[in-house]
Amino acid sequence: MQPLRLLLALFVACAAAVDVQDGQTGVVMSLPPQPTATGVKQIPDAAHPFIAPGADDQRGPAMNTLANHGYIPRNGIASFEEIINAITEAFNIPVNMAAGMAANNFLTRGNIFINKISIGGISPLIPPLPGQIDGPETQGIAKHGRGEGDASMTRADAFIGDNRNFQNILYDMALLQLGKFGDNGPEGNNTVFNINTMIGIKKQSIAMDQAANPQFTLNPARHGAIFADSGLILNVFANSTTKLSTLSIIGSFFRNQTFPQNWFRSAELVNGAGLNAITNAVRNAVPVPPGRNNAQGVYVPRPTSAGSLEQQHRACTAYWDQNGHVPSTLVTNSTGVLRQNVDFLLDLLFTAASANPGCTEPVAPFGEPGI
Ligand SMILES: *[C@@H]1O[C@H](CO)[C@@H](O)[C@H](O)[C@H]1NC(C)=O
Ligand SMILES: *[C@@H]1O[C@H](CO)[C@@H](O)[C@H](O)[C@H]1NC(C)=O
Ligand SMILES: *[C@@H]1O[C@H](CO)[C@@H](O)[C@H](O)[C@H]1NC(C)=O
Ligand SMILES: *[C@@H]1O[C@H](CO)[C@@H](O)[C@H](O)[C@H]1NC(C)=O
Repeated sequence: MQPLRLLLALFVACAAAVDVQDGQTGVVMSLPPQPTATGVKQIPDAAHPFIAPGADDQRGPAMNTLANHGYIPRNGIASFEEIINAITEAFNIPVNMAAGMAANNFLTRGNIFINKISIGGISPLIPPLPGQIDGPETQGIAKHGRGEGDASMTRADAFIGDNRNFQNILYDMALLQLGKFGDNGPEGNNTVFNINTMIGIKKQSIAMDQAANPQFTLNPARHGAIFADSGLILNVFANSTTKLSTLSIIGSFFRNQTFPQNWFRSAELVNGAGLNAITNAVRNAVPVPPGRNNAQGVYVPRPTSAGSLEQQHRACTAYWDQNGHVPSTLVTNSTGVLRQNVDFLLDLLFTAASANPGCTEPVAPFGEPGI
């Protein structure tokens, strides 16, 4: 390490060490630099072999492949910077885009003071926030209700069953849609994922869960999230040399939670507008607005009466709704490094949302703590 870097690191470490709250030591979060472009690159490299998780390692609905290859710590407990560095290295996703996703996860399910999150469930390595301002336990990202929710492609609704681990049966059903709508490719006919496959998968997951789960809910943020994985599947997971997301590639990521053999990450920085175009194409073809089941099990769209808060925040409904899932106490009951990190993450969310024309006002978190 260069002397200047070392000095800086020491300085940051000392600055953080003075902020001790509730027996925990605050760690200041920061945005890692964008790595310099390297073009075509095979992932994983030799330094990141697959090792199956041990019994104490946390795993959940996302990022398992990154943990199984050590791009994030193999125990499934990671810092904000570790997650961003892993996503940028393995998938060539721009730092800002990765930061928006990581910010969302930390604000809803991490310990923002010590800068650690579990990609699965509750971990003895992650204490509750100082003063227990979000309840007596810090949940991991697997916990339903804030970011995670119903109508997942590979996890059950929390009401129905296992919302944390990969469900073979759900994935098998997704593959039926591939068999119907997929393109022909090097692995055979109907083996390449495309927009129509994703539309079929989304319609099927929503219809199935809406019928089986009396509490079925798609709030605006969740509604956005369930379509966003289409961009991941069709673009980010594609073999960059062929641009194809094939049966074996997607199966390797989802079923085996390992990088496909001989796989190349995107040669160019992943383009956010391109991902949005995919997401919008799928969403626009699935005629289900945000809403929930009523007591009779009938799906009812959310009311959007004139003058409602939702109406006032129309230009950035998902952002507004997302803040409704971030505990209000992160702002009302935080000081020092904790508050600094909270503000840093909230700024990242707003920066991402303000790309939508008309979305010009930051919203303070107004979610219920401890849920
Ligand atoms: C947040 O602070 C208020 C005012 O000091 C206090 O009444 C409340 O109990 C605190 N909430 C939590 C969850 O700590
Ligand atoms: C695959 O599709 C092509 C073009 O539609 C067709 O000619 C071919 O017979 C199909 N192959 C199989 C094994 O079904
Ligand atoms: C998943 O792993 C098993 C066992 O190693 C292997 O036989 C299978 O081909 C893999 N499937 C995919 C889709 O990678
Ligand atoms: C990716 O494409 C290259 C050819 O460009 C091929 O050799 C490799 O097998 C492909 N990888 C996968 C996982 O399909």
